[in-house]
Amino acid sequence: MENPVKGTHDIIGSEALLYTEIEERCKSIAAIFGYEEIRTPILEHTPLFLRSVGESSDIVHKEMYTFDDKGGRSVTLRPEMTAGVMRSIVSNKLYVEADLPMKYFYLGPCFRYERPQAGRYRQFHQFGVECVGAPSAYLDADVINLGYHCFNSIRVPVKVKINSLGDEESRNNYRAALKEYFAKYIDQMCDDCKRRYEINPLRILDCKVPEDIEIVIGAPKLRDYLTDSAKEYLNLVISILESFNIEAEIDDNLVRGLDYYTGIVFEYHAKPIEGLAEVGALGGGGHYAHLLKDVGGPDYEGVGMSLGLERLFHVFNHFNHDLPDTFGLDFYIMPMDAKFVGDCAVLMNQLRYAGMMTDMSFEAKSFKSQFKAATKKKAKFAIIVGEDEWKNGEFTVKNLSSQIQTKVRGEEIVNSLRTMLQEYYEQIELKYFEEHGNE
Ligand code: HAM
Repeated sequence: MENPVKGTHDIIGSEALLYTEIEERCKSIAAIFGYEEIRTPILEHTPLFLRSVGESSDIVHKEMYTFDDKGGRSVTLRPEMTAGVMRSIVSNKLYVEADLPMKYFYLGPCFRYERPQAGRYRQFHQFGVECVGAPSAYLDADVINLGYHCFNSIRVPVKVKINSLGDEESRNNYRAALKEYFAKYIDQMCDDCKRRYEINPLRILDCKVPEDIEIVIGAPKLRDYLTDSAKEYLNLVISILESFNIEAEIDDNLVRGLDYYTGIVFEYHAKPIEGLAEVGALGGGGHYAHLLKDVGGPDYEGVGMSLGLERLFHVFNHFNHDLPDTFGLDFYIMPMDAKFVGDCAVLMNQLRYAGMMTDMSFEAKSFKSQFKAATKKKAKFAIIVGEDEWKNGEFTVKNLSSQIQTKVRGEEIVNSLRTMLQEYYEQIELKYFEEHGNE
């Protein structure tokens, strides 16, 4: 009972700060690209996922946390967020008033009952966007660009893999070709493949069973079934990305594990680096022509992508990147005698109201133990209030990285500390860019 549920994890301390930093960067990039936030419930009616993510997908077939609520309705903890966004567009009739395309970003926990391993959890977090109602190769490229920009902003180098599932005609021809090919082998393949063969033979290409992979290698290739217009569309998206300086590599085997995709699909993978364990795609997405209609909305096409924050964090950590060190407290106030505690609390309150992260000890502990506390809380400055300071109406402010001490007059304290802090931030930013450039 004292352990977290298998496949879930706590995010604490500096890790939590880093998650927040990554989330804030992704959110601000989404805002820069013109996306509005949308927050949908974690719980949805189960049929939503059957109709969107699809019954042939592993997610729906094996990985959903589905249960009956006390009213006997089948509900599911969302395994991804696109379906919920589509449902919300329909439930709230967002399409009636909206200027097209509707552009939403989201961030939150998702749940999949998968076998936990590096970068794979049962509760994980996604950041993503959906852009619905104005199909264009430019918007497909724009969504890929947005995700790429998120990785760049935290200096995780990724490569973009892209493919096209083709138009209706391409997919029908391909499905027929796969059925014909696998017909010879299906009896000797795993039970999942037998099921996939019946509902959606494309899913067989995702099979991880070694003997089945051997068979899959010889299967017809999607590219040979793409119509000319599907190929042209794919090339157009790639050339738009090139014009944004993003290199996208065609991966014939990329079909993605969710049923709602049509046309362009893509994934972001960490560039291979020695010692970095493979964690699968860091993010992925694609175009969906019928998803909104399938969940009861108008026949609008859309495109979207999601990034997995745990995987991003995993790769980020491998590089041991240090984001500019702005974490921790700004000030830690240290009363050297119990009689100063009340005035120190007033000062703390003034600094907090002036927007500076401040904390203090409410006991006049020894100098050493208060310093220890200040260091533990990663305070940038300690403010020391002792007998001398008290008599002279001033405070001693110590920069805890340079160890330089300054005296500050009591009546000017808030403004002086604000200036000190600004100079501190300017210096670390300067140092950071000297070390890292604008990489
Ligand atoms: P997905 O590829 O299933 O796509 O998931 C997106 C990302 O979520 C993955 O690339 C991965 O980083 C992360 N992820 C998935 N499963 C796990 C797991 N068990 N543990 C940790 N991270 C995981 C989607 O979910 C689509 N909704 C993306 C999309 C948006 N397509 C269109 N719009």
